[in-house]
Amino acid sequence: MQNIFSGIQPSGTITLGNYIGAMKQFVELQHEYNCNFCIVDQHAITIAQDPQQLRKNIRSLAALYIACGIDPEKSTLFIQSEVPAHAQAGWMLQCVAYIGELERMTQFKDKSAGKDGVSAGLLTYPPLMAADILLYSTNLVPVGEDQKQHLELTRDLAERFNKKYNDIFTIPEVRIAEVGARVMSLQDPLKKMSKSDPNNKAFISLLDEPKQIEKKIKSAVTDSEGIVKYDKENKPGVSNLLSIYSILSNRSIADIEKDYIGKGYGDFKADLAQVVIDTLEPIQTKYHELMNSSELDEILDRGAEKADRVASKMLKKMENAMGLGRKKKK
Ligand code: AQP
Repeated sequence: MQNIFSGIQPSGTITLGNYIGAMKQFVELQHEYNCNFCIVDQHAITIAQDPQQLRKNIRSLAALYIACGIDPEKSTLFIQSEVPAHAQAGWMLQCVAYIGELERMTQFKDKSAGKDGVSAGLLTYPPLMAADILLYSTNLVPVGEDQKQHLELTRDLAERFNKKYNDIFTIPEVRIAEVGARVMSLQDPLKKMSKSDPNNKAFISLLDEPKQIEKKIKSAVTDSEGIVKYDKENKPGVSNLLSIYSILSNRSIADIEKDYIGKGYGDFKADLAQVVIDTLEPIQTKYHELMNSSELDEILDRGAEKADRVASKMLKKMENAMGLGRKKKK
């Protein structure tokens, strides 16, 4: 069976963008692949986090993974910082990466632009992400479009390591959903929806209450034309809403457009809000059950143990290949 790895940062409550671009794919893939799903808390601290809030977000994200349909009996669900091999392998891959290629990453440029005191970790995040993936001999990485460039770098680092030291890494392929790979901000449809957007109206969090969802969709930026039609270039706001509607309702965009001929954005937005509410309601119910049980910690303990067994083996291979320490037995 082929291996999958993917992670989500506990840098806020995950959004409809994370759900559509990543989580929804994970749920479908877990039946066909050996899956490792990770709460990448070490990535989250590349931007300063409040420690207490981070702890809360980590547990909450774990519960959301399961509430969205990740079956911990099938997939390994774990927290990155609980498997030390990630940081160790991340360091080794930093030493394989070049500063120039890290500085070219668009996410680094976006997140550091105009800011003082940018952490070194923000620059060296991609080798840590490469370590996450390569430790599990990953064949496939399901992510949203924003992570494509990091995946290309992961492949480059793996190839460089294999060539220079020893051929130990599987070269992973990226898997980007055909629709919904880039869900856009509700307030600026030219920008991707992000869980750490300072404007809370820009995203729908998976834990938003029905009233909040209605309000956020109602205030989503559209245009003055009043025609529900997909046209990404000229009508980015409406097109983004149509994509969300289509993915969550499992209907084609053309079919949805027909329902709103002669109607304005008011009806369209009200119906979309209902589609989102109906999607999130069962997820939220399951989430609250999990947050009030001890099951979650047991799942995360088992996940960390399982991941550690696999990751430690690959770490030893990496150390042997690079000549670190004394030769380790298999
Ligand atoms: N807007 C999006 N549309 C589709 N997919 C998305 N993803 C993120 N935003 C969108 C995918 O979600 C997964 C987890 O992302 P992440 O938490 O590792 O970091 P990110 O890509 O930086 O996501 P955010 O929400 O924008 O987080 P912050 O605000 O903390 O930076 C990835 O597979 C990602 O592609």
